[in-house]
Amino acid sequence: MTDWKNYNDKNKRDTRMSEFWVKSTVNYFLTQPNITKLNILDYGCGYFDLGFALEAEANKVNGYDPYEPGIDYANHKKKRLNSQAIISSKIEDIKKDNYDLIILNGVVQYFHNFNELLDTLILFKSLFRHNTNGKIYLIDVVSTQSNLAIDALQNLYVATKNGLLTPMFIHLFKAAIHRNDKKLLHIEPSDIKKISHQAGFSECKILPENLSPSRQRFSCVIS
Ligand SMILES: C[S@@+](CC[C@H](N)C(=O)[O-])C[C@H]1O[C@@H](n2cnc3c(N)ncnc32)[C@H](O)[C@@H]1O
Repeated sequence: MTDWKNYNDKNKRDTRMSEFWVKSTVNYFLTQPNITKLNILDYGCGYFDLGFALEAEANKVNGYDPYEPGIDYANHKKKRLNSQAIISSKIEDIKKDNYDLIILNGVVQYFHNFNELLDTLILFKSLFRHNTNGKIYLIDVVSTQSNLAIDALQNLYVATKNGLLTPMFIHLFKAAIHRNDKKLLHIEPSDIKKISHQAGFSECKILPENLSPSRQRFSCVIS
């Protein structure tokens, strides 16, 4: 979490960039069947950008993140939007509802190790709506194939197509300045397959295209 906190504490949020980061993920879920009936948990929600965007269509969307400044920001915004979401840094709070879908958008790489992923998947089993087969989406996961330079170029390209070249350039510049030496966790599809099996789920199914602009990474669904 240190990398993420370090970057965000030093930077003012740019709403256009926040929307950009979650745009393709939002579009994907909004076109899923039965979205209006689903209870969704945005796990590692940050500022809850994804959650707010899905809330308009889904039955219910809650968010959890241990990063309190993000949760505080989201709860201020919640009042403005008249949102019904539970957005909290306390895991107990999000246990008040049961879920059909749990989404981790760009989160797994901030876990400390594979055991943390295993424990988290086991926790998710207790959060699903009773007698239903819930789904977990791990989106934008860093693998050993990931290459920061190519990721940056890809982001610049996609941002240009979305009219966001300047804010993306500023984002990358600030990220470069505020970088520290903490390594992100790299996790391969084969690791997730093994861990999800250990947690009692089926194997993860790799989505044909990563759902975030960082195309060097991958996304998968566990059910
Ligand atoms: C790159 S941000 C992504 C935020 C959000 N999901 C989005 O798409 O905008 C990574 C987030 O993962 C959260 N995170 C890190 N470790 C976590 C953990 N063990 N459990 C839950 N969230 C965690 C961080 O606090 C941070 O908000």
